[in-house]
Amino acid sequence: MKVGVFGAGTMGRGIAQLFATYGHSVVLVDIDEKYLKSGMEGINGSLKKLKEKGMVQENPETIMGRIFTTTKRSDVKDCDLIVEAIVEKFDLKAELFKDLDSIVKRDAIFASNTSSISITRLSSQTKRQDRFIGMHFFNPVPLMKLVEIVKGYSTSEDTTRIIFNLASSLGKVPVIVNDYPGFVANRILMPLINEAIFSLMEGVATKEDIDKVAKYGLNHPMGPLELADLIGLDVCLDIMNVLYQDTGDPKYRPAPLLRKMVEAGKLGRKTGEGFYKY
Ligand code: 3HC
Repeated sequence: MKVGVFGAGTMGRGIAQLFATYGHSVVLVDIDEKYLKSGMEGINGSLKKLKEKGMVQENPETIMGRIFTTTKRSDVKDCDLIVEAIVEKFDLKAELFKDLDSIVKRDAIFASNTSSISITRLSSQTKRQDRFIGMHFFNPVPLMKLVEIVKGYSTSEDTTRIIFNLASSLGKVPVIVNDYPGFVANRILMPLINEAIFSLMEGVATKEDIDKVAKYGLNHPMGPLELADLIGLDVCLDIMNVLYQDTGDPKYRPAPLLRKMVEAGKLGRKTGEGFYKY
């Protein structure tokens, strides 16, 4: 397959790496060369680690040779599949898909890696709503097994089957879910993280102890505050806002401390500081 991946950030680079590892040819698109450069450096670092651990067979250079980077949208015109992983803003995604609809060949499937924006609403920007689906990967993409396959209102059974089988062939565990706010994973996860932030804000325990409770009492691999730093506090806030606005349910109100940290630019690992310093 030839796969066009939009966005060379944390998720986009992981998705590009995954497809290339499984032999697909990838066109990785971003708006600026500097993002593509740091995306490829990240992929190189990740592949080196995976190779050392025997988790990939080929050399990093061979796998990376299947990834073509570009800032031109028109370079994806003959792709069979588009996976969008740009910033979590509806207007930006909508503009991209509208434009791609007239660029990319008619029978190609469009997938969004959105963590919470409605797939139905995004698909309605295009004339291929039957070939539009959510392909929600998890961070770090090379290590996390799950892919949520999100069926929009008009997504066809054919499209769902093709994407389900594709995700399985990439060594992932696909799960089909319907298009409701937060799908399943973030509907469960984000309230957990948000509640951990409320607990910190109210002084119930220190950040280290809140994380210890989840790790040693619930057997989570990471505490919720460490995980929020990994995901990005801006992403967590965006998702809480979507859950809150789209359901109108006050149980999803974002913790004020989360808002304040995002306003302060303390977004987690990617900015060097979130709940912890990196
Ligand atoms: N590529 C290659 N290696 C990677 C990597 C990547 N992208 N990311 C991390 N690693 C490596 C680390 O560098 C480290 O290597 P080292 O041991 O050689 O230094 C190793 O993986 C991590 O090893 P650890 O011993 O720290 O931890 P584990 O191997 O046991 O697991 C983990 C790491 C899989 C990240 C585990 O901590 C975990 O499962 N954490 C929870 C992650 C999670 O919940 N992700 C979902 C987030 S929600 C989401 O993405 C949805 C979105 O919509 C918000």
